[in-house]
Amino acid sequence: MKKVTSEISYDLYDSISDLHVDDRKLLELAVSAAGTAYAPYSKFHVGAAVLLENGEVVKGSNQENAAYPSGLCAERVAVFAAGAHYPGVKIKAIAITAMFDDLNELLSVSPCGDCRQVMAEYEHRYLANIRLIMTAENGTIRVIHDVKTLLPLMFNAENLKK
Ligand code: THU
Repeated sequence: MKKVTSEISYDLYDSISDLHVDDRKLLELAVSAAGTAYAPYSKFHVGAAVLLENGEVVKGSNQENAAYPSGLCAERVAVFAAGAHYPGVKIKAIAITAMFDDLNELLSVSPCGDCRQVMAEYEHRYLANIRLIMTAENGTIRVIHDVKTLLPLMFNAENLKK
């Protein structure tokens, strides 16, 4: 037996204004997307903005349901819409943010396990890293260079090959 350790690394920015202009613009689109959330149950409004290789941006927000598990996270709403509207077009980056229903302050958010798995599928499908930009604690911003970093030992299409 041997112990194996895996660590993750990411960039942490002090504020939105410190981001590269492209990341900042994408995050601002995620903020506007959060305004379209339907979150009457959790009051947690999430916005995601997906930047495609062709320059298009597809936005999504969480859409809840009285039957709670039937709702969907902002990231999957946006990524699936991008896949449906622009089939075969690579995803370059995804910005994610969240606010309570007073829409007052950007909150720390990190994609749930299901969204990580879905984003990882697109990374694997297009053999291209997806940059993740997300709001973190006290106005800071986390930038992660690929989805794999957030999903070590992931299950993907390679596992299904004989
Ligand atoms: N949610 C997202 O949309 N994305 C995340 O990254 C975390 C959670 C949503 C799901 C649900 O509508 C609400 O936030 C509370 O969990």
